[in-house]
Amino acid sequence: MRSVISIADLTNDEIEEIFSLADDADKMRADRVAADRIMATLFYEPSTRTRLSFESAMQRLGGSVISCSDMKTSSTVKGETVADTAKVVSSYADVLVVRHNWDGAVQAMAEHADVPVINAGDGSHEHPTQTLCDLYTLRKEKGELKGLTVVVCGDLKNGRTIHSLVYALARFGANVVTLAANSMALPQYVLERLEREYDYALAPVGSDDLKAVVTETDALYLAPKQPHQLALYTQVDEVIQARLNSLATGLRYDAFYMTRKQKERMKEGTTGTSYPTIGSNFLREQRFRDTVVMHPLPRVDELSPEVDKDRRGIYFKQAAYGVPVRMALLKFLFDRRSEKRSRARVDPAPYRSPEPIGPQCRNPNCVTVKEPISSSRRFEILSPGQANALILACAYCDHRFKVQIAGNVQSKRYYVFDATLVGTLDDWLQKGDLALFDSIKEAEELGYEPFKSGPQRALMSEDEIAGALKSMGGQILRDCRELSRLLFLGVRGAGSHLAQRLANEVGKQAKRKPEVGEIEIYGSGDDLKRLSPDDPDAGPLNLKDREIILVDDVIFTGRTVKSALSIIFRSARPQSVRLAVLIDRGHREFPVKPNYVGKNIPSSESDRVRVKLREIDPGEPDQVIIYTIINPKEETPKPSHPADFAAK
Ligand code: NCD
Repeated sequence: MRSVISIADLTNDEIEEIFSLADDADKMRADRVAADRIMATLFYEPSTRTRLSFESAMQRLGGSVISCSDMKTSSTVKGETVADTAKVVSSYADVLVVRHNWDGAVQAMAEHADVPVINAGDGSHEHPTQTLCDLYTLRKEKGELKGLTVVVCGDLKNGRTIHSLVYALARFGANVVTLAANSMALPQYVLERLEREYDYALAPVGSDDLKAVVTETDALYLAPKQPHQLALYTQVDEVIQARLNSLATGLRYDAFYMTRKQKERMKEGTTGTSYPTIGSNFLREQRFRDTVVMHPLPRVDELSPEVDKDRRGIYFKQAAYGVPVRMALLKFLFDRRSEKRSRARVDPAPYRSPEPIGPQCRNPNCVTVKEPISSSRRFEILSPGQANALILACAYCDHRFKVQIAGNVQSKRYYVFDATLVGTLDDWLQKGDLALFDSIKEAEELGYEPFKSGPQRALMSEDEIAGALKSMGGQILRDCRELSRLLFLGVRGAGSHLAQRLANEVGKQAKRKPEVGEIEIYGSGDDLKRLSPDDPDAGPLNLKDREIILVDDVIFTGRTVKSALSIIFRSARPQSVRLAVLIDRGHREFPVKPNYVGKNIPSSESDRVRVKLREIDPGEPDQVIIYTIINPKEETPKPSHPADFAAK
C-alpha cells in the first residue's frame, strides 16, 4: 500500500509514468479504471481546486466520492484525534485525500490508515500533488525540465507548494531562483536538504538583474554545485562577495512561479510587510519574452489580472491539468495496492528515544507537538558532528534542531556532545542504547550521571576576556565605514552574549550603540531575531546593505560560520560580513578566516574548549577553559600537551 505524503515518495521515473498516464486521460476515463472504488476527501482547511479536481478525477475514473469538505462539521470538533479519524474512514473508502493545517498531520494519519493516503497539503510543509501539476504544466510548456531556470517568488517560508516544488525541480536538474518577500525566505531546513541530498548550492543573483520586475527583495540562485562555488561561498571578504554577485547574472528565466502571502500561517501583526508583485512591468520586459507565469492559485493581489490575457500567463491551464494529473495519480496508486512502501524514500534508521523523556520537535505546528498521541516521535540523525551537536530532523515535518546531551541507557551516564564521540554514539545508536536529551536537567531527572572528563586548565581569565573584547571592539570601529550600518549578529548561545558585549564596547567608544541580532543555525522557526534595541515596533531585523559583524565564541571546523553565512545571504544582501570570535582553535574544514580574534589556541580534536560567560552560568566569573574528552570506551584519558595551547 503506497501513500504519497511528500514529493520524495515518488521516484523521477514514477513521476514520468504518472505524466504518461495523464497524457492518456481519455483512455483512463473510457476504461473506468476506478469503477467500484471509493475515495474519501477529508479537508481540515479550505480548498477549491485541490478538492474539486480530486473529486472530479475520481468520478471521471468511474469511482465515487465521499467527502468531508469542512472538518468543522465532523467529529473533530468533539475532540477526535487524526489517528482515530484515519482509522475509521479507511474502512469506508479505498483511498483518503487529506488536507490539514498541521505540518506532518497527513503522515500521522497515513500511519493509522489501512488504505493509501494522499497529502493534499499539510501546514507549511508539503503539497506534493500540486507539484505534480506544476511539473506537468512546465513540461508541457517547456519540454524537458533539466536545465530550466524557475524563479519562485513570494512567501517561500510558509508556502507548502514551494517546498515540494523546489525539491522536485532539483531532482530533475532544474535551477531555482528564489525571490522571497521580506522575512519570508526559504526555510533553512529546505535549503540544507537541497544541499545535502541534491548537491545544490546557492549564490546571490546579480543585484539589479530582477529589480526591474520585482522590487523589495534580493534574489538567490540555486543550482547544482560547481566545484569552486562552495569555497567562494564560505569566504567573507568583499572582493569575494563581488565575484559571487556576478556568478548568476544574465540568467535566462524560463518560468516565474508566484505565490500568495500565507496570512493564515502568520502570527498576528506580522502580515503587513510589503510583498512582490507581477504585473505590466514584467510583460513589457523583452528578456521575459518566453518566461511563463505560474501560480498555484488562489491569487490575492500579487499577480495582476493583466497577465491573464497574455499568452505567458498559464496558471489557469495549470489548474485545469489538476484533473488529468490527479486521475493518473489515483490510477498509479490503485495499481500498486500490493506494494508495501515507496521505492523512492528509504527511511533511514530513525532515532526513537529509549527513555520516556527525550528530544521534542521544535516546530510548534508539528503534529508531534499538537497531537502527540497520533504520532510516534522519531528523528533522522543528520551529519553528526556538525556544530558540536547532533542534528535531528523530525520524521513528520522535516524541521531540524540540535541536541547536545547524549547518554547511554545501560551505563546511565550522559555526555555533552563532542565530535570525538561520533563513532561511539553511532555504536550506541545501533545497539539501541543511545538516549538523547534536550537538557542536562532531563538526563538527571532520569537518574543519569555525568561522564568524567580530564583535568581543566584555564586559558583566559575574566580580565583577559574583557581586554580582548575591548581591543576587538576598537578594531571593529576602526574598520567600520558607516556606524549606522553596523550590525552585530551573534550565533545563538555564547555568540549572542558576546555580540551584545562587543556592541556595548563599540557603543562606549563611539557614543552610539549599534544594533544587535541573533542568528539561530539549527532553529526551526525564525532564524534571525533582533536583540537590541528590543523594541517590538522596530520590526524584523534588516540585513540589506548592512556591515555585519558575525560573532561566535569559538571557531573550529568553520561549519557554523558556513551555515550562518548561508542564512544571512538568503535573507538579504549585506554590504559586508566580517567575522569576530573570542577563540580560534584552528583545524578548519572550510576556508573561513576570522577578521577579529580574541586569542588563538591551537588545540587537538579531543580537547574541548568552553567559553563560560556570566550570562549563561550566573554567579561564576567569565573564563575560557580547556579539558580533554575521555572517550567512554577508553580506559585512560589521552593526555593533552600543554605546549599545544601556547597562545599565538
Ligand atoms: C495552495 C495551497 O493550498 O497550498 N493552493 C492550492 O492547492 N492550489 C496555495 C495557496 O493556498 O496559496
